[in-house]
Amino acid sequence: GVVVGGAYAVNFAVVYGNRKLTNVGDLTFENTLRIPRLLEGRRSGGDRLFELTARPGSTELLPGKQTPTWGINGPFLAPTLRARRGETVRVAYDNRLPEATTLHWHGMHLPAVMDGGPHQTVQPGAVWKPHWKIEQPAATLWYHPHPHGATAEHVTRGIAGLFLVDDEQDAEERTGLPRDYGVDDIPLIVQDRSFADDGTMELRGASTLESFAGVGSVGVLGDTILVNGVHDPHLKVTTTLVRLRVLNASNARVYNFGFTDNREFHLVAQENGLLERPVPLRRLQLMAAERAEIVVRMEPGRTALLRSFPPDLGLGFPTDRMDGGQDTFDILQLRPARKLTRSQPLPERLRDVPRPVEVPKGATVRRFRMNGTQINGKAMEMARVDVVAPAEAVEVWEFTGSSDGMHSIHVHGTGFNVLEYRGRKPPARLRGQKDTVHVPAGGTVRLAVPLPRWVDTEYPYMYHCHVLTHEDQGMMGQFTIARPGSESQAPRWISDHH
Ligand code: C2O
Ligand code: CU
Ligand code: CU
Repeated sequence: GVVVGGAYAVNFAVVYGNRKLTNVGDLTFENTLRIPRLLEGRRSGGDRLFELTARPGSTELLPGKQTPTWGINGPFLAPTLRARRGETVRVAYDNRLPEATTLHWHGMHLPAVMDGGPHQTVQPGAVWKPHWKIEQPAATLWYHPHPHGATAEHVTRGIAGLFLVDDEQDAEERTGLPRDYGVDDIPLIVQDRSFADDGTMELRGASTLESFAGVGSVGVLGDTILVNGVHDPHLKVTTTLVRLRVLNASNARVYNFGFTDNREFHLVAQENGLLERPVPLRRLQLMAAERAEIVVRMEPGRTALLRSFPPDLGLGFPTDRMDGGQDTFDILQLRPARKLTRSQPLPERLRDVPRPVEVPKGATVRRFRMNGTQINGKAMEMARVDVVAPAEAVEVWEFTGSSDGMHSIHVHGTGFNVLEYRGRKPPARLRGQKDTVHVPAGGTVRLAVPLPRWVDTEYPYMYHCHVLTHEDQGMMGQFTIARPGSESQAPRWISDHH
């Protein structure tokens, strides 16, 4: 319906929470950015073995305060994993947390039973051993827990890490893109958090008007920005070009990244891989779980400041009236040395063969309405299969947002292309292969979804809003993959595998 005048103010607070974030002028960038440890695993034949242990710990996130945190192979966050296309990854995930969890490979193309979604529960003290062959192009993926109803809490406590896929078939390694991890190829895991005076993290969020107009709370909208777990950070730069692999690992917050001097930078990759060619941008908006790789030019001795500007959520009203949405806040200071090593020039083409997904004539179209915290009027149920789709088909999935909701959509097990965003050809920043995208409020995003090739009608993949509180509240559905032509025989009810 039509919302007018003062009703906005109420709605904004509900939709976007009510925690104001401004730190412009407050930061001194005194802390050195921490680079998550790179874990390349043990190699054995064509296999790559990763040993991961999740444990509770304690971390100094704010000066002089100890915050109880969770982490993998360390007290907060998780190491950056790196593997190559064609290799078989084998993980031993040891859960030493006080409760059951899962570990999901976000953006990975793999069988559903290895996906680490809500059906692959790992009990405390148990070790989960998934394995799969990497069959996808170079990309910056990530991994995080996905236990049904508790994803937000487990991620907020600190379990999240990057998973870099390398691929020599992609021009990636020949193009001269910066690729020296921690030197000119820098991961940026951006999160917002809120802390109590004693340093403990707020886990559930301040916005509790969940029943209002059926719109779910977005949960934690923190007033403190952490990059790789570091508050108030700077990064020393030694090369003329720096590649930033940016992950929005926040629960709900939307970032609209740019530099304070308004300099141009180049987008080179989206969640699921490299673009055909670099796209010049001055602003880059990322919803929770979206990733982008950008290349930024540095000038000797001249600092650059990465900031987040007010995002455009297409809510149909001015965002400067939105409580959270008007925020402008600083993220990271880049400090180039007085003498910089000259990087190879930015390549004009990043991929030899552009690989947009072709939508065949007569492709199945599926429509999903995101409303409140439900999809097509239903909340997630572990035992219900919402969609049975044929293996390897390319389908059109359309997600429509309610006019007052802030949502995204993420599809497991594959990468997709955006065909249409708010009724138009997608903007350049949405043209790569993606796995998570904003669902416009009161509008539609149309996706070409290539379905996974692994037939399994017992273990489902998920599709869901990646605002973590929405996901936990049930804004998620399940799909299984059937042999083409046998979809109607596939079970619609499955065991919940708990
Ligand atoms: Cu990033 Cu279903 O998850
Ligand atoms: Cu995922
Ligand atoms: Cu949502």
